[in-house]
Amino acid sequence: MSTLPPDCITVPVETGTQRYDILIGSGLFDAPAAWDGLPRAARALIVSNATVAPLYAARLQQALAGRYAAVSLLALPDGEQHKDWATLNLIFDQLLAEGADRQTVLFALGGGVVGDMTGFAAACYMRGVPFVQVPTTLLAQVDSSVGGKTAINHPAGKNMIGAFYQPQRVVCDLDTLRTLPPRELSAGLAEVIKYGPIADMDFLGWIESNLQALLAREPTALAHAVQRSCEIKAWVVGQDERESGLRAILNFGHTFGHAIEAGLGYGDWLHGEAVGCGMVMAADLSARLGLVTEAFSARLQRLIARAGLPVRGPDLGSDRYLELMRVDKKAQGGEIRFVLIDGPGRAVLRAVPDATVRQVLAAHAGPGR
Ligand code: NAD
Ligand code: GLY
Repeated sequence: MSTLPPDCITVPVETGTQRYDILIGSGLFDAPAAWDGLPRAARALIVSNATVAPLYAARLQQALAGRYAAVSLLALPDGEQHKDWATLNLIFDQLLAEGADRQTVLFALGGGVVGDMTGFAAACYMRGVPFVQVPTTLLAQVDSSVGGKTAINHPAGKNMIGAFYQPQRVVCDLDTLRTLPPRELSAGLAEVIKYGPIADMDFLGWIESNLQALLAREPTALAHAVQRSCEIKAWVVGQDERESGLRAILNFGHTFGHAIEAGLGYGDWLHGEAVGCGMVMAADLSARLGLVTEAFSARLQRLIARAGLPVRGPDLGSDRYLELMRVDKKAQGGEIRFVLIDGPGRAVLRAVPDATVRQVLAAHAGPGR
């Protein structure tokens, strides 16, 4: 048995039904141990996209050669606007054309869009085949590859069609973050920042102190950000895999954010940008309800702006925002429920009067970005 590189960090995820590891480190593509012990099969399919495949698919194919008799590649069109039925179907078309059986292992090589779609395809193909997450964006390494939420979008709402389906392993090769465009790095930082106010104020302080290092992609800073984010996410998912309660806190900023994404048409704002701006709105909402001080919400807004993220929402009109937010998965009986900060480092899920939400939108959405 080969061993993992000495600086590789392992974060275990343990749900009621499954246990798997998140591996975090440099050079993991080329570390045989990163791929040891995965389910055996005759065939593997790497699902990637037109941007990521030319960068990393050959290395992953090489790492998997010898472990599977056939390792094929499918490159999907790139972009959130392709997170839909038609693109998902391309994965099923390929699996069926190759005669893939129930043991076939899918590898999701890319950001959250590829990861969410490959996971959903794995959950559905022959009622479930194993899959491995190989996230290549910061956002996917700190959030979307962990915890088993898989989905596609519907024109009426974000991530509306999907399944909970856990991967066999998550392999985060930090070297892949070197080729990430700066705007995508900032989008990933939104989900990193999220973990502070909802769960760990020390981590929020660490991000504030190390933001320049993160933006400069210093490997030790990135490794710590990915590790701590994954530890918090693993802790939450371990207690509430299917979001019957606690897991909703991971959606801080997402109710506003999903409305921005759906309202503009997917792919205009990046998911992380919408979440960053949504956190500004949700923090202000928490302050207006007296749960945190205005100083706390202003502190979070400053950090989000420093990370290169928009802090002013698009001008959709508050009626349209409210209409879109009623489609949110956390809504119950037509009542929108928001993740609010209930004191620094603590989050709650609550319904809020429309009038207060309108005040927040008047303050944080409108012309100009
Ligand atoms: P993405 O998957 O669209 O990737 C961002 C862009 O970066 C794409 O153009 C991609 O091709 C490119 N890219 C990826 N890796 C690269 C690399 N190493 N070098 C250069 N370019 C690279 O977006 P994302 O931000 O990774 O993920 C957003 C998606 O994740 C959304 O659909 C969101 O709903 C979903 N999400 C899911 C969960 C979950 O729990 N399942 C959590 C958060 C977000
Ligand atoms: N990103 C939200 C969740 O995984 O629950």
